[in-house]
Amino acid sequence: MNRTAYIRFAALLLSIPFLVFSCKTPTEEKEPKRGLIAENAMVVSARGEASRIGVEIMQKGGNAFDAMMATEMALAVTFPFAGNLGGGGFAVYRMANGDIGSIDYREKAPGAAYRDMYLDENGEVIPGLSTKGALASGVPGTIAGIFEAQSKFGKLDPKEILQPVIDLARNGFVVSTQQANRLQGIRDVVREVNGEDTFYGKEYNAGDTIKNIALAETLERIANNGRDEFYKGETAQVLVNHMKEMGGIITLEDLASYEAVWRNPIVFDYKDLRVISMAPPSSGGVTIGQILKMVEPFDLKSMGHNSADYVQVLTEAMRRAYADRNYYLGDPDFVEIPIAELLDDEYLKNRMESFNPEKATLSSDIAEGSVLFAESMETTHYSIMDAEGNALAVTTTLNGAYGSKVYLDELGFFMNNEMDDFSSKAGVPNMFGLIGAEANSIAPGKRMLSSMTPTLVERDGQLWMIVGTPGGSTIITAVAQTILNAYEFDMTMQEAVEAPRFHHQWLPDQILFEENSLDSTLLKILTAKNYLINEGRTPIIGSVDAIMVLPDGKLEGGADPRRENEAAGY
Ligand code: DON
Repeated sequence: MNRTAYIRFAALLLSIPFLVFSCKTPTEEKEPKRGLIAENAMVVSARGEASRIGVEIMQKGGNAFDAMMATEMALAVTFPFAGNLGGGGFAVYRMANGDIGSIDYREKAPGAAYRDMYLDENGEVIPGLSTKGALASGVPGTIAGIFEAQSKFGKLDPKEILQPVIDLARNGFVVSTQQANRLQGIRDVVREVNGEDTFYGKEYNAGDTIKNIALAETLERIANNGRDEFYKGETAQVLVNHMKEMGGIITLEDLASYEAVWRNPIVFDYKDLRVISMAPPSSGGVTIGQILKMVEPFDLKSMGHNSADYVQVLTEAMRRAYADRNYYLGDPDFVEIPIAELLDDEYLKNRMESFNPEKATLSSDIAEGSVLFAESMETTHYSIMDAEGNALAVTTTLNGAYGSKVYLDELGFFMNNEMDDFSSKAGVPNMFGLIGAEANSIAPGKRMLSSMTPTLVERDGQLWMIVGTPGGSTIITAVAQTILNAYEFDMTMQEAVEAPRFHHQWLPDQILFEENSLDSTLLKILTAKNYLINEGRTPIIGSVDAIMVLPDGKLEGGADPRRENEAAGY
């Protein structure tokens, strides 16, 4: 066998699991693959330590909201890629008695921000200004969010919750292989932004222990003085001075006036499921609602998982939903959003009327700029279920990997680059290739539009699934597919998380498939129908952390093997 034939043969062998998966027939049924099973409570997150600390807090008598505070901060220590104090997020809850709600702790544009702040004198976007350096940061919301949620619903003293996290920061966490590669990958830019001696400018290898004393001290002050330490205390002062020195515009007043906001979640039915997801300023709930409602009339089950027909129907729904997302959605405190109309059954039925099973509906001739995944990006999602039956889906982010790359050495954390989620200029794609409109233009104090989709699903009136993922613009479609995998194709939680995913976001007009997930037959059928395919250029889409409540009441964790996610429970 010559070398080329050998490589082809090896590639064929590697793709066999995917071919087998997509062609599965009833006679080939194998034992379903299950994730971790727990009797009482569970946390699934991007790091084992963070999942375990959340579970320990619940074993000490805390509930899901206490575990949220512990897990979120443990991720800030062990997963600085996305875990944060310098970022923001969203959490959707469902109490054991069925009450639902959500908290928005998204970053806000600083008071001195203005619409054209990332444009040059010719009105062109200045590359990198909204993604790297101090000007890229919004006012962080994470500490406000976890304190607001914990003080309303939690049971323990924040000091008790934060102590194991402080110990973790002080005693250190072990660098994983993926983490070592990522740290290696950004070392140069972190040094360029923060100077040679900066903490994450050092060389860290897999197996090394990182002790972040500055972060331990910051967390200790926060444990002692509460959320105001971050927004009005010594921490606020240090943050503002540091950002100012680096050309940033966040002021003490911006921090002092930051508030997390309770919002009514987006709630809609999909067949006999009731889906509860995040409202604007995240586009997650509205957009996943539009996608699922547009595909609801189709018999997806009989089409087969990831069959050409299935990919086509879902793609057409995604395309239409993202076109609405980009035009209508923004911060509800600044713009009027026609949520009811966007989720109206009749409207969505009409929207799909132009769907032609023989031919792709092309999005547009413009803006084919393929800027997706230009750099490694990360957010992080965790799912929590406590022993009382309270459920939390939480997604939090710095936006890009290590955010703006600005690291506050005195405080031990990175600052976000969330300002890039605004539309710097109408029609110009952001780092996720998303094209924005007026609704998401920059204004002082405004929250930038997000795609984060922390989601809860009820089945027959009972909590059934807690789900979410990182992945920028692909978050919404990854969450939608995870729900459909479990509901339409009867996958276990772990199988639903692991199944290959695809994505379409209207513009650029292309279907992204994960590497190795597209077989040649599927490619042939879709291209014959005029679909534009981005073949395997995206190594992974999302990294889902989910929990399913099984019929016997036990919990099954779905920890995505695409990254180092881990479930813990008892
Ligand atoms: O809020 C958003 O939609 C983005 N800032 C999320 C960023 C993200 O998921 C990066 N991860 N891959």
